[in-house]
Amino acid sequence: MSQELKLCDFDISKTTGFVATAPPLVKLPGEYFSQWEDVCAAIPHLVKQRQLRANIEALPDRKFSEETLQSEEEWRRAYVLLTFLSQSYIWAEGEARVVDTLPKKLAVPWCTVSEHVTLKPVATYASVVLYNYRLCDPNGGLTADNLVAISNFTGTEDESWFYMVHMLVELAAVPGLNAIERVFQAMKSGQNSVLVDQLQIIEKSIYSMRETLKGMYKKCKPSVFYVNVRPFLAGTQGISLFPNGLVYEGVDCEPRRYCGGSAAQTTSIPSFDTLLGIKHLESEDSPSFMEKMREYQPKQHRNFLVAIENQQPSLRDYITESQNPELIKQYNRILDALIEFRKGHMKLISVFVIMQSEKHGFKASEANGKDSIPVQPPNSEDGSDTNGIGTPDMKAEAKDEDTTPIGKPVKALAFKGTGGTALETFLDKIKNSTEAMKIPLPG
Ligand code: HEM
Repeated sequence: MSQELKLCDFDISKTTGFVATAPPLVKLPGEYFSQWEDVCAAIPHLVKQRQLRANIEALPDRKFSEETLQSEEEWRRAYVLLTFLSQSYIWAEGEARVVDTLPKKLAVPWCTVSEHVTLKPVATYASVVLYNYRLCDPNGGLTADNLVAISNFTGTEDESWFYMVHMLVELAAVPGLNAIERVFQAMKSGQNSVLVDQLQIIEKSIYSMRETLKGMYKKCKPSVFYVNVRPFLAGTQGISLFPNGLVYEGVDCEPRRYCGGSAAQTTSIPSFDTLLGIKHLESEDSPSFMEKMREYQPKQHRNFLVAIENQQPSLRDYITESQNPELIKQYNRILDALIEFRKGHMKLISVFVIMQSEKHGFKASEANGKDSIPVQPPNSEDGSDTNGIGTPDMKAEAKDEDTTPIGKPVKALAFKGTGGTALETFLDKIKNSTEAMKIPLPG
């Protein structure tokens, strides 16, 4: 009999899921980091003025020691701070002038801090979303109008909103995560009607995540995201601009390669996939992109996925062996919910990546990893006539794009995810491997 699965053993909150219940630290205390925090707060302005790199290079050269940081909250803030400084250093002057070496001043503390927080020294979902939110009204809740990003590359509301919609999707997953705990309890005690109820909660939670995705259109203009925000989130894996990767000066001589920040690093959707036994394999002998993404999740969260995998019997085996039609139907309904989530997500990608790549004259056939997702513009389902969600304002878009930091779209990122995937091949396979798990009804 496997050990009882408890969210609290994996730093998962019963009320906020993978989002820490206490809001992250907004600024590091003390003298050591004060100038670093000042530069971080000024990133949007300094990038526009082409002064970002000079300001970082002028920061005092002081030896970083682990005693500088006291609490876990401080380590996490240091990780966010160094991620924003380093990613903006790499991308501050656009595609033509990316650097292939990160100066020692950033590279050494970033690698030390990353190791401590069990994450990679690159933009990650944790650094821009999970550890990067604050409440406008500290007494208010984790709601759309009370959440804002702490650090920001562009200073635009679009960027903050982009991160905060991810936060809201995480929060919509919470009832489903709580139900995972109870699924295994119900299986152990053979209470099939309780099991059906818990599976229904998971299904509902995934539909609510799918609904929350639609909020992206409300305040994040696709062109601001595409031209200005996403380059800062890019990594060095699968992107032609970094043929040799990135050297972390003072850490090691060999360049390293990392995937960039992507919501593929969330642990919530993979928790449901893992519960259902869905594996997104690419080949028998090499780890798939989704398996690699586990290395970009905080360690305790990735351990939760392993703990689900280790539960005996698995949910799928239990249901298959039971041949209980109610359980089979409910299991298949969760698969449908995940497919709907993935279809809604593909629409976002069409609007925010594919249509934008085409608008800027890039050709899918010329991009690394050719892509041909059919373009699906937002329709009434994802548009303005439900929940007050608005479609992007194209006039405002053009204006914002002209006055933004980099100002030119990055060709090397056309038709690609910030995680570095070639879109069609990757996301289509993910959807198909979900569909393929349907259990046939008996008789
Ligand atoms: C404009 C908004 C978004 C865009 C353009 C976008 C883009 C992408 C892309 C390109 C990938 C492929 C991996 C990569 O190379 O990065 C991906 C994967 C993924 N994204 Fe998003 N994404 C968006 C919003 C979201 C949100 C709000 C969530 C919710 C947490 C989310 C969850 C996922 C998941 C779970 C994957 C892994 C694939 C899967 O399980 O289906 N994305 N996204």
